[in-house]
Amino acid sequence: MSTIASSFTQRIKDSFKSSLSAQSRRKTQKYQSLSITPTEGAVGAVVTGVDVSKPLKPWQILALKKAFQEHLILIFKDQTLTDKQYLDFAAYFGNVFYPRPDVPVLASDPYGNTPAIVLVANVEGGYTGTGELTAHTDHHWTPNPSRASFLYALEVPATGGDTYWSNQYQVYDDLDDETKARIEHLQLITYNPFVRKIKGGEHVLYRNPVLPPISEAFPHPLAATHPETGKKFLYLDAETEVELVGVAYEEGSALIAKLRAHQKNAKYFYKHQWSVGDIVLWDNYATLHYRPAFDPNTRRVLKRISLAGGRPF
Ligand SMILES: [Fe+2]
Repeated sequence: MSTIASSFTQRIKDSFKSSLSAQSRRKTQKYQSLSITPTEGAVGAVVTGVDVSKPLKPWQILALKKAFQEHLILIFKDQTLTDKQYLDFAAYFGNVFYPRPDVPVLASDPYGNTPAIVLVANVEGGYTGTGELTAHTDHHWTPNPSRASFLYALEVPATGGDTYWSNQYQVYDDLDDETKARIEHLQLITYNPFVRKIKGGEHVLYRNPVLPPISEAFPHPLAATHPETGKKFLYLDAETEVELVGVAYEEGSALIAKLRAHQKNAKYFYKHQWSVGDIVLWDNYATLHYRPAFDPNTRRVLKRISLAGGRPF
């Protein structure tokens, strides 16, 4: 590595420690040709000046990882990638998520396998249709949910089909001290919506103990700690069926309803209007993502890669 590139790498490493403040969020950061400009929303930064179809230099990868920690979602503009190039780019951030075969997820085949790239599209062979997708994190109901996910836009409607991401650090930080203390050691079970789909029955927001659980339970902390930044975030989907371990039904369902009402506030969200060639990479711990229903007469074709994560703590 040249001296200039190596000094860039060192500067990026050094600035990892000091870059997570709210103040730095509003400035554009320039690294040679690479620009990282924060959005006006609660999360996200737009990345320009890099062609991610090509192998990246160490300083570029470090700059992107630093920005990813800071902004929670990165929006890469005007990209054109083959599937192989997309997988190679994603691999800078981790390995692809593969589900446990007996725990179904989006695009699971009858043997429990999923493709590395999932077509999120309202065309033949695609998943998720055109209906509303309530705010969630990918694979929250599995033992080791995803660390991060990518969506790459190939075809998008002229209007509608936007995706929203929330800032779950901010959601947690804004809770009052009493609520923070109440949830500090609570474990949350998020039941598998794909098992619910297979078994049928009425969707509920909180499991009633008079009914059998819909799927195997993998409890995770409700107030979880980000494995890289050490910051706390509220780890709770908007409408997936859940249950708090060891908490009475009335108390648990009321607490979850209160937290869900709190995190729904529009101030916690960034709205992304897709353009063809956009790739969005999101932190799948400290953000939720949400898609309202869109016009079924339009075409929306995106490709998702989800990355493996460790056990939440
Ligand atoms: Fe998702």
